[in-house]
Amino acid sequence: MKISELRSIYLKFFKEKGHSVIASASLFPEDDPSVLFTSAGMHPLVPYLLGQTHPEGIRLTNVQKCIRTTDIEDVGDTTHLTFFEMLGNWSLGDYWKKEAITWSYEFLTSKKWLGFDPNKLSVTIFAGDEDSPRDDEAAEVWKSVGIPDERIYFLGKEDNWWIAGNSGPCGPCSEMFIEVDEIPKCGPDCRPGCHCGHFVEVWNDVFMMYNKSEDGKYTPLKQQSIDTGMGVERTAAMLQGVPSVFDTEAFIPLIEKIKELSSMEEFSKEEDTQIRIIADHVRSAIMIMADDRQVGPSNVEQGYIVRRLLRKAIHSADRLNIGTGFMIELTDLVVDMFKDVYKEVERNQEFIVKNLKAEEEKFRKTLTKALRRFDRIFQESNTITGQDAFLLFTSFGLPLEMTRDLAEERGIAIDMEQFTKQFEEHREKSRTATQGKFKGGLADHSEEITKLHTATHLLQTALRKVLGKEVTQNGSNITDERLRFDFTFSRKLTPDEVEQVEKMINDVIAQDIAVEQSFMKYDDAIAKGALAFFKENYGEEVSVYNIGEFSLELCGGPHVKSTAVLGKFRIAKQKKIGAGIVRIRAVLESNS
Ligand code: SER
Repeated sequence: MKISELRSIYLKFFKEKGHSVIASASLFPEDDPSVLFTSAGMHPLVPYLLGQTHPEGIRLTNVQKCIRTTDIEDVGDTTHLTFFEMLGNWSLGDYWKKEAITWSYEFLTSKKWLGFDPNKLSVTIFAGDEDSPRDDEAAEVWKSVGIPDERIYFLGKEDNWWIAGNSGPCGPCSEMFIEVDEIPKCGPDCRPGCHCGHFVEVWNDVFMMYNKSEDGKYTPLKQQSIDTGMGVERTAAMLQGVPSVFDTEAFIPLIEKIKELSSMEEFSKEEDTQIRIIADHVRSAIMIMADDRQVGPSNVEQGYIVRRLLRKAIHSADRLNIGTGFMIELTDLVVDMFKDVYKEVERNQEFIVKNLKAEEEKFRKTLTKALRRFDRIFQESNTITGQDAFLLFTSFGLPLEMTRDLAEERGIAIDMEQFTKQFEEHREKSRTATQGKFKGGLADHSEEITKLHTATHLLQTALRKVLGKEVTQNGSNITDERLRFDFTFSRKLTPDEVEQVEKMINDVIAQDIAVEQSFMKYDDAIAKGALAFFKENYGEEVSVYNIGEFSLELCGGPHVKSTAVLGKFRIAKQKKIGAGIVRIRAVLESNS
């Protein structure tokens, strides 16, 4: 079965079970909930899992584009990817474990749908701990559909508990694994969750029933919800009976092209891994750059991830004697693969090509400097310590793999332990930072953050009234201390304009205007003049917030009930952050 068919029959199946099909949200979390990327289908739905009303109803299904940077070091094995698509179905306070599991089983095994052999299906279930009991309810449902005890595994929180970040909606989950005959079990203890490749996880049903607070406490959610996620590329590989995601049509054209561009005839196992890394990393970077926000490689946030992916790909390409410009050759293939599913990919092709070209040139220049530094360190100390390797990585963008190869060429081995330790510490820090970034996100409904969400709507309208309609939102980020708003405009505001914007907002606040939510068709909202951040994020039926007559904007919320609680609005800082983009930081102060 082809990937395109898998996508469409999944949606068809859940449509038949009463679900509304919603569009994939952007890879950049909407309304910037302050995570770098959408990394699971449930991210854009967090407010609804917490109880907000979704305009499309209480049963939803979709295909979601995802980026998982935490998997970057695993790319090259049979299943891990940095960009992938996830199929999902959601119950928002509606059906529960019985329906979710029964439907998962039906879709996976019925000949009418995926038709996997039920004897090859194993499942895992939460074993229970001090926070939540063993999930016997899920086990009973699996048994009732015919999964025998020996293919039901009870595992702990690391395997069978889902939460995005550190806090927010969460609960026990049940994962489904297909056994791959071609890869034998690695030993008597081989079980689902083992990395040898025998058991491939294809789907995860999460039973959202708690909210975890920042201080680690679990409280029951006011509604129980279902969140499921099925990896498209993995499931396609299993359906096609091929040994890895790289053997599906999501990668075959890319891999063939990479091989063709290399002057080599034969490829070792290690070289095959490099080819997989190139294909994955270039594909992911292209999909990130394809977003209408047009973020190219840089040293910050999402741009940094694009840079890291591309530099690693260039390094791997160099090892296979692939000349410059290969990433541009791959672009057409990626665009062809996705242009019918995600329209923005073709729309932004020119931007992507321009950036790929510029980044390769830039990296090759930095590389000369990095190599000079490498040689100097080597001449001075006759070795390259793990610390040196780490410095070359953080200061010059020299991929760790490249430093290792250079050292090997000079006949020295890097102290991998020291190197890995530093790297792991760095990874851990960035992982914690990424998780920390969830604070202030859609999952965070603290009073301050809610107020700043409303203030952001006021700011956008005020800017458009003072500066003109060319002002449109380019990004927004909220912590409990300040809002940050990026918008298109050619220059910074004059002091007089800053004053006008502040006064206009403070007047609206003083009038204590009601903030109201309504639901309507996307086209009707636009016809009424509602501001929409990016079209791709919205389904047909949308949630709209109005602040009296002053502001009308598409948004999932949350917002304050009326404006007086906001206090006093002040623009704290403004800065030009790129050609035609200005960034404002603003705060709310108490009136007293
Ligand atoms: N959120 C869960 C996951 O990503 C299920 O969708 O695995």
